[in-house]
Amino acid sequence: MSAKPCSATSSSTVSRSQWPRIVRLVEPQENKTHLAAFARTVQSGLSCQPKSLPWAFFYDEEGSRLFEAICELPEYYLTRTEDGILRRHADEMVAGLAAGGDTGLEPTIIELGSGSAVKTQRLLAAGLRQHDRLHYVPIDVSPSALEDSAQRLTRRFAELKVTGYVADYRRGLERIMARAKGPRLIVFLGSSLGNYEMDAAVELLTMIGQTMRPDDRLLLGTDMAKERSLLEPAYDDSRGVTAAFNLNLLRRINRELGADFAIEAFEHRAVYHPDRGRVEMHLLSTRDQIVHFAAAGMTVRLAEGEMIHTENSHKYTPETLSYLRSRAGFVEEAAWTDERGWFRLQHWRLS
Ligand code: AVJ
Repeated sequence: MSAKPCSATSSSTVSRSQWPRIVRLVEPQENKTHLAAFARTVQSGLSCQPKSLPWAFFYDEEGSRLFEAICELPEYYLTRTEDGILRRHADEMVAGLAAGGDTGLEPTIIELGSGSAVKTQRLLAAGLRQHDRLHYVPIDVSPSALEDSAQRLTRRFAELKVTGYVADYRRGLERIMARAKGPRLIVFLGSSLGNYEMDAAVELLTMIGQTMRPDDRLLLGTDMAKERSLLEPAYDDSRGVTAAFNLNLLRRINRELGADFAIEAFEHRAVYHPDRGRVEMHLLSTRDQIVHFAAAGMTVRLAEGEMIHTENSHKYTPETLSYLRSRAGFVEEAAWTDERGWFRLQHWRLS
């Protein structure tokens, strides 16, 4: 399946000689195929013991909205800490874009899982201080998040060209990298890598590396291991926003796949496992219950106290990061952290 450009969202106001500043590229995944894949993943997760559900499906419109709210919670230090590092070091982080030499080719910043792209503005502002042109290509599964951020960014930065990709990382990245000829910086922020188990993280990073040339750079943001007393509240906040985010997955399954999860019979749980190097999120069934699942013609029994595993958020150390890096074929050029060492941004290139 190939991505095909949709009409430029601003085509009516852009003359032919100008580039369309916002182009929306949609990965044309049929709604049916998407639903079938969703149903299959849910079905197989609920057939396993222990049961699990796929984190990738958190981000429907409501889920994306709840995640934005999480990022502003006092307990969720990740976004604020990473933003502080970006604010201080954005100029150094984009300086590598000039390494492509004086080719005259437009530099490109590609972002994986951009969401609302608030933090990215630091990098874009820095990029535009160093170059008169810049192309920003966010890839996200949420069309609404892409649309909003593209509008906001083109309004704020007159010199910026934005091309949003609604796609998963792999497909989006392969297409974009094949098209962008100038120097490229891939940014993967927010410790989004943390959702992946070690082997899957190596696989994803290796795939990213395979699309890169020697002059390209990867800027990776990762949350670091720290005390339980800081980690657990970040994933179980006092206002219950993270609980709502977790429970929204059941709501979505009820709505889109015709299941009948009794939402009120589940509780949110977040536990730090230092030995596994991660915070795990679960949904705990507060009673014995049977869930009917129309799309799959399946019923699932849950015992009182049984947990459904919904997400991992890995917390790294310099050692685990260097292990991941060398297995995926990268070397580190620079790294930045906050004074407390809570979060780390690193610049990697192919080894
Ligand atoms: C988007 C994967 C980085 O793990 O911190 C936040 C998702 N889940 N609160 C994280 C999340 C619950 C977030 N990542």
